[in-house]
Amino acid sequence: MQYILLAFVFLNSNFIWAGDVMSGNHEVKGRLEGRVALVTGAAQGIGKEIARVLVREGAQVVIADINDEEGALAVQEIGSKSCYMHLDVSDECDWQLAMQRILETYSKLDILVNNAGLNGAVDPENGTLEKWRKIQAVDLEGVFLGCKYAIQTMKDTSEHSSIINISSIAWTRGIPGGIAYSASKAAVTNLTQSVAVYCGQKGYNIRCNWISPGFIPTPMLAGIKRDAEQEARFQEYIRSIPMGKMGTPEDIGNGVLFLASDESKYITGTELRIDGGVTAWTGIPWTREK
Ligand SMILES: NC(=O)c1ccc[n+]([C@@H]2O[C@H](COP(=O)([O-])OP(=O)(O)OC[C@H]3O[C@@H](n4cnc5c(N)ncnc54)[C@H](O)[C@@H]3O)[C@@H](O)[C@H]2O)c1
Repeated sequence: MQYILLAFVFLNSNFIWAGDVMSGNHEVKGRLEGRVALVTGAAQGIGKEIARVLVREGAQVVIADINDEEGALAVQEIGSKSCYMHLDVSDECDWQLAMQRILETYSKLDILVNNAGLNGAVDPENGTLEKWRKIQAVDLEGVFLGCKYAIQTMKDTSEHSSIINISSIAWTRGIPGGIAYSASKAAVTNLTQSVAVYCGQKGYNIRCNWISPGFIPTPMLAGIKRDAEQEARFQEYIRSIPMGKMGTPEDIGNGVLFLASDESKYITGTELRIDGGVTAWTGIPWTREK
């Protein structure tokens, strides 16, 4: 019987999946078919890969960024289920306009990924308030504004709402040379829990979770200044990660996919750490064998 079925599929399908032939449906449905998503900071790096994964799974994706040139290129690359919108996440008017345009175009918003982020050198002794505020404005206030306008938009328009905030493993420990970044990422984790509880208690069908990526090669990571000695120490550190290497932007995209899909429908207010085990380890450099 199995052989007959296989032969039938081979002869009739032009290599279409067997299940689809049997159901008469020639299109493989993605896990996010019919959903509308907004991904901030998606012109490059992790955000662009998140957008690619969501489109691959059937979502209509709005790529938002302040880098209009790269944003337009990202849409060309990812294809017609994506479009570009200029959105400075630190600007409340931009958020209002973005939600208005999304409602006019798609009548709903199902998924928001607050991914846009800025890093920069700020230490506790010499850091300037100006640089501190610039980073908070994007990495923390941008996430607050995103959650605020997403809740207002999603609560009446979507039945599968999911907000995913991109934090960082930087939230878990001190980063002496980057306190504005690590403090903002720590605040995002607490903000996410409050948003999750608020939405649950209000009876809104909106989940909110955060992802803490480890080291992922992107323009942000490449942009951190390191001299030759620091670079060598950094590479040694990367080799010391339990999984022995950096992650990829797609690894983060796949985590977002899980949190955006119905497979995580009872998960809210929690963290998904995608870091190759780096924060699971004490850093003590030996293994006990007995
Ligand atoms: N790369 C890593 O190793 C790593 C690790 C942990 C967490 N993260 C987080 O992942 C997210 C993406 O990081 P990445 O490495 O892809 O960075 P990236 O610098 O490559 O990309 C960030 C994107 O955000 C955009 N952006 C900056 N300010 C903005 C604003 N005001 N409004 C809208 N867009 C803005 C940039 O134009 C850029 O396209 C960030 O939140 C970052 O903190 C990255």
